[in-house]
Amino acid sequence: MNAIEKQIKKIETEYLQEIKEAKTLDTLESIRIAYLGRKGHIADLMSTLSSLSLDQKRTIGPLLNQLKKSCHDAYDLRKEQLAAKVKTKTSLFDVTAYTPHQLRGSLHIYTQLIDTLSSIFISMGYAIADGPEVETDYYNFKALNIPDHHPARDSHDTFWLMQPDRLLRTHTSSVQIHAMEKTKAPLAIFAPGRAYRNEATDATHGFMFTQGEILYVDKNVSMAHLLATAQTFLQTFFGSGALEIRVQPDYFPFVEPGVQISGSCPFCTTGCSICKHTRWIELLGAGLVHPNVLKMSGIDPTIYSGFAAGFGIERLAMIKYGINDIRLFHSATIPFLDQF
Ligand code: DAH
Repeated sequence: MNAIEKQIKKIETEYLQEIKEAKTLDTLESIRIAYLGRKGHIADLMSTLSSLSLDQKRTIGPLLNQLKKSCHDAYDLRKEQLAAKVKTKTSLFDVTAYTPHQLRGSLHIYTQLIDTLSSIFISMGYAIADGPEVETDYYNFKALNIPDHHPARDSHDTFWLMQPDRLLRTHTSSVQIHAMEKTKAPLAIFAPGRAYRNEATDATHGFMFTQGEILYVDKNVSMAHLLATAQTFLQTFFGSGALEIRVQPDYFPFVEPGVQISGSCPFCTTGCSICKHTRWIELLGAGLVHPNVLKMSGIDPTIYSGFAAGFGIERLAMIKYGINDIRLFHSATIPFLDQF
């Protein structure tokens, strides 16, 4: 074997070894360039052909062609192997297929709140009641002791419909009347539902919002029942065993006496931004059902008494979860809804 043949053998062995050891397509490509490229080892050998005798050319020529071919074949084979590896790797871990925070359907926060509140009241023996959102003057006002021209009507910013005597209920207190007419006394109902007021919308006011209405009518119902119920309800809702309530006089035509019930701030003991550093948060309007209201619904106020209370469901949730804008509730904002 002459020197060139030895050289061919050596190049082939080295090349095949390097190819075998190549771990990436990039390394493989640089090996190909070093050997098979225009200025590579094989091209160098080829250029020595011209200096050889005819006889030598006859033997070395085919050897060099053979070397070239086997180098190309080995390269193609290795390339295929490495490409297949890359493929299996990507198909096992496809970064585009994995979304860390995949969206899943869930109950809307309103549904969750109404479920939670309903189960609190059901556990206290209340039935869930409902009433129409399109009301008449009678159910929204008159039967609640708010006759025509009563000044309390002004505060209700009513949406009157283009039908005679039809309006969008301004509070869920109207459900009290439907429930009393239907069931008579005794009764205990919790009525969650929408209410509407024709007022400017901002972070704490919506023209459409959700209220919860509580009504309990029986013999000898007193303020003590109202206060115990309010405290139990608020403690359960806020999950705060230490929650206290504060009661202050207030005026609502359908209750006498009327009160405003605040809860001690469930988030602090010394004052924080949620309770505006007062340690108290106003939560419920309430009172003992006005005898006129019982009478108008066919319940004898000399036999029965009752208490009623109403609250804004969004307001309770805003306090509980630290939500700072009521408009988020029906804005269909996925990042907001996704938290619940
Ligand atoms: N309906 C009243 C409102 O929307 C809230 C309210 C106050 C409801 C006192 C009651 C109550 O049942 O007794 O402002």
